[in-house]
This record gives sequence, structure tokens and C-alpha cells, in this order.
Amino acid sequence: MIPDEVVEQVADAADIVAIVGEHVRLKRTGNSWRGPCPFHGGKGPNFSVQPGKGYKCFVCGESGSVFTFLQKHLGLSFVEAVKQVGERVGVEVREVSRARDDEPDWRAPHWELHAAAAEWFTRILWEDPRGAVAREYLAGRGIGRAEGERFGLGYAPREIGAMRQHLASLGMGVERQLESGLLVRRDEAEEPRPRFRERLMIPILDVQGHHVGFGGRLLGPGEPKYLNSADSPVFSKGKLLYLLHAARPAIRKHGRAIVVEGYFDAIRLHLAGIEEAVAPMGTALTEEQAEALARLSPTVFLCYDADTAGQKATFRSGLELLRHGVAVRVVSFPEGEDPDSFVAAFGSPAEAQAAMARRLDEAVDLFERQVQLLAAHGYFGDLHRKRQAVDKLLPTIRACRDDVTRELYLARLADVTGVDRAALLRELDTPPRRPGAAPGPAAREVPPRDAPPPEAEFPDERGRERWTRGGRGRGGRDDAGWRSVRGRPTITAPGTKQVQDLLLVMVHARRFVEEIAETVVPEDLASVAGREVFLALVAEPEATVEDLAARLSPEAVDLLQDLLALEGAVGNPDLAKDRTMTYFRERRLKARMGQLQQALHATEDDGEKTALLAEIARLKRESTSIRSS
Ligand code: UTP
Ligand code: MN
Repeated sequence: MIPDEVVEQVADAADIVAIVGEHVRLKRTGNSWRGPCPFHGGKGPNFSVQPGKGYKCFVCGESGSVFTFLQKHLGLSFVEAVKQVGERVGVEVREVSRARDDEPDWRAPHWELHAAAAEWFTRILWEDPRGAVAREYLAGRGIGRAEGERFGLGYAPREIGAMRQHLASLGMGVERQLESGLLVRRDEAEEPRPRFRERLMIPILDVQGHHVGFGGRLLGPGEPKYLNSADSPVFSKGKLLYLLHAARPAIRKHGRAIVVEGYFDAIRLHLAGIEEAVAPMGTALTEEQAEALARLSPTVFLCYDADTAGQKATFRSGLELLRHGVAVRVVSFPEGEDPDSFVAAFGSPAEAQAAMARRLDEAVDLFERQVQLLAAHGYFGDLHRKRQAVDKLLPTIRACRDDVTRELYLARLADVTGVDRAALLRELDTPPRRPGAAPGPAAREVPPRDAPPPEAEFPDERGRERWTRGGRGRGGRDDAGWRSVRGRPTITAPGTKQVQDLLLVMVHARRFVEEIAETVVPEDLASVAGREVFLALVAEPEATVEDLAARLSPEAVDLLQDLLALEGAVGNPDLAKDRTMTYFRERRLKARMGQLQQALHATEDDGEKTALLAEIARLKRESTSIRSS
């Protein structure tokens, strides 16, 4: 923290008009300065800055000091903001620890309790006969006393009363032990029992180094393998990262953090001299954890297992990190290995460190890793799957907060799918449509075609299934009885054959697209997918098939693929175009004539009748001329 006097000194010396003025165009009005509000993005001069005081927007109500301005506008922390301003005004800003405390932190009793328990567990582990079984276990994993002590490992024995009595003898009563979760009691009458019994104890520290909880591992088989502290006033599984306190200096020094899955992975890497390793406790990174890492380091290496769960966690964590502007790289290990087993297999820490360094060097960017996996699953083989690949990759680009990286990703996506960058940009700006977001028939006709929400695993069986569910995929029927030609065309709706011919001409003889669009309107096409393909071609007659596919729903991509496969069916494109245009013109004329006939029957007015008859005669002539041309 920064002492209050220093904060005040900096605030007094700061020229808020000059500082805000670097970000907002301000004009003087009397005693204050006015400009457009950067917070709600207003255009009028509703944002007021008062020298020596602060700022306020009269429209959105944002207000505060020079420090809050920098915090909100530049995303700085309070301390960073004070330091930045301090530099400008020549006041030295130094953080001091809370140690000189007038008021002790209310969490201190819990930290103290956990620290005391950790010490007791260590003693049991190394010096007590009850710890022998755990010592053997650790020896089996190549961890001796020196190594174990570095991480404060301990052992929780079987007895129910021992820990309670020990802690009580240090003045930490049962109530505190219950509150912190080290003891549990189902009902008042029951003797409180320790949460951890017969487990190897791994103490968990917060980033400041306070003892806040434990992970406890069973030594033999059983469930759960690891039991963690329950969330308590000081323990929050989703906010803490195991070994972050120890890793922080190395993370800063090397400008990278390494995220591994488990306690032992993190321990093993630290023992091998790779001290940037941290572990979330059994899950993907949460937003808070990602934020904590982003504050320390521009790059994070993810070392999750290669199995499905590990992949899920990799991409979930990766997106969370990208959202915080972090560069994410994915480290791979040989099949079935995790960092613990990988490193442990080497004879010496030096060898292990070198092997691990190579793995880190070979790590690929998150996006590239996604592309690799999609390629391995054949996603770039056909148009339909390319479309899905785009859907799967866009969320990653969306999550990316860094503009340069975003551009690189976009270029790579364009490269790997053949979809034009501009088309991808359009897709990128379309907010993801989620299943169930758009109720009603529209949602049924055109299923959500954006990628699964970021929290969905990747690449994912569920996601893949979505495209084929309900027999909607290839060979299925769409709403107008159009049957995909993949199973050979079966004409089931009037005009279907002609629609197909029309689209074949449009797809294979693009020069006619414009001419066709002058006569044929989307409503002429009975099938939803057909209309989509039609509209996409009209919008961009020169687009590559990849570009087209990128804007189409899965059904329409199917149709497009079928049309592409039927190139030979077009025959002479000029003739085919004339034939289908004739068909659509005639159909239009017939419909129009039908309307006129009805009007003719309905009217009593002789003048109107004459006019209608004249119009019908004209249409008949037109129809004849179409046919003979
Ligand atoms: P693993 O089962 O992969 O752990 O779970 P590990 O570290 O490789 O375990 P060892 O090597 O067999 O000792 C990864 C992490 O998930 C959490 C723990 O944080 C563990 O380190 N976990 C796992 C739990 O919280 N509970 C469990 O039951 C299992
Ligand atoms: Mn393991």
C-alpha cells in the first residue's frame, strides 16, 4: 500500500487538466474544462474537469479523481496510477507493507491457524512414526526431506482429536478451527472431526505468502484422490493458483508463466529449476486466475494433459488469457505424460531442465494449436468442414484483446481456409448466435452457425454433432422438400429442378449472376438453403467458393457442395441460363395473370375490366415472345 500522505501529496501536485487532457480534448469554460466523455463515448461537452478537484460526466455520471481516471481509462491499478502521476510531479511513491499496522487484517487469525496446522503436519510427516507411510510414498516419487520441506509438505494422521488439541494448546480454539474448515461438525452433539485424515498435506499459500488452505492427497487408491480446503474466508479455489507466491519472482524475471494441471506437476517443475510453474486446482483457469497471471507476465505457457479433458481445459484457459491480453502458447508432451512424469524420468535436474526447455521452445501459439488439431481431424478437407473450422476458430480471434495478434490470427485463418479476410471480418463482427437465443421458426430453419460458446470444449464432439443432429446434414431435406443431390436428386417440390438448374448456372457461370438477379428474386426459390446460396452469389458474384461457404449456414454449404459437384450437369451454360430464366419469367407472368383474372372476376366496373383485359393480353404476348426467343 501507499501511505495516505503520499497519495495526497501526489494528488495535490497533479495537474488533472493536463493529464486528462492527454486523453480527452478539453476546452476551457469558466473555472472548469469541458469535453466529450471518454467513458460513455458521448460527443457533446458533457464531461467536466475541475482543476485541483476531479472530473464528472453530466450524462453518464462517471466521476472521480485523477487516479480513478487513469485506473478506468487505462486499466491501471490504484498503485500504478499513483506511481504514474507521482513520476510526472516528481514525488517519489513507494509502497510500504502493512506491517506497521494500526489495525491488523481480519484474516490474520485464519492465516495463523493454517500456518500452525501446516507446521504440525510437517512434524508428523518427518518426525513421527505416524508419518512413515507418507515418507515412503514421497520417497517412491523421488521426493526426500529437503525437497518436501521446500514445499511445506506434511501428513495428516488418522486420529480425530490430535490436531484439534495441538492447535487449541497454541490458543487457537475449536470455533476458529471450525470456521476455517480444518474441523467439521455435522451436528452440535458430535465431536468435531478434522477435514483431512490420512492424507499427504500440501499447503496452499496466497500470493502474499499467507497460509490459506491445503490440498490433501490420498496415499493409496480411493476417492477423492485430492481433497482441497473448502472455500472459507481466506480460501477460494477459483482465485488462487498453487505456488504462485513462489513462482512470482521467476515469472517476472522470465516474462512468462507456466500453467500445469496438478500440484505435483508444479512441484516437479520447481524442483527442476523451472520456477515459473503454477497450478490451478483441478480446473481450467478462471477469470480471476487469468487476470492474476496477466498482471505478472505477457506470456503464458499451458501444459495441460493431451487427453480430452486437458484439451478442453487448454482452450478454456487459453481464451480466458487472450481476453486479458496475454500471449498463449501450448506445450505438448509425449502421449500419456504430464510434466511430473516427463520431468521425473530424467536422471538429474539439469537434464530435466534442458528437456523441459526444449518442450517450451517447441510450444505453439494457441491459435496455431487449434488449427493443427482441426487439420488433424480433417477439417480443412472439404468446404462444409472448413465452414465449421471457421466457426471453431472465430471465438479465439474474438477473445484476443491484442490488436496485432488479432490481425495475425485473421491472416492465418484466411490462409488456412482460403476465406477472404474481409469475409472473415464480417463474421467476426457478427455477435455469436447461441442455441436458443433466437426462438421461433427462424432458429429452426437456420441453426446457429457460430461456434460454440467459448466455454465449450474444443474440438468437440458435441459441437460437431450439432451440425448433423436430427438428420439435417447431407442428404437430408430442407423445408421445401429440396432433397440434396448427394443421394441423387429427387424432385419433390414444384420448380425444384429449375431452382437447381438456376443455381448451377449461377455457381458455375458467374458472369450470369447479375443478369439472373435482374429477373429472379429470392422468393422465387422455394428452398431456404437455395435462397441463401442465391443471395450470397448476388452479393458477391466473384467470391471464391470458400468465401461463399464462410457466409452460409451448414445446410446451404451442403447445397453449395452438391452444386459444385454437379458441374457436368450444367451443359451449355448459355442455354441453361436462358432455359431457367424463361421458366422463372413465365412463372412470374402466370402468377401475375392469375391475379389479373381474379381481379377481373371481382370487378363490376367496365372501364376497369377493359384495362385488365388489355393487361392480360399484353402479358400473353410477352409470354409467347419469351418462349419463342
Ligand atoms: P491429477 O489427478 O492429474 O493430479 O489432477 P496429479 O497432480 O497428476 O496427481 P498425482 O500426480 O497423481 O499426485 C490434477 C489436479 O486436479 C486437482 C488437484 O489440484 C490435482 O493436482 N484434483 C484432482 C482435485 O482437486 N481433486 C481430485 O480428486 C483430483
Ligand atoms: Mn500426476
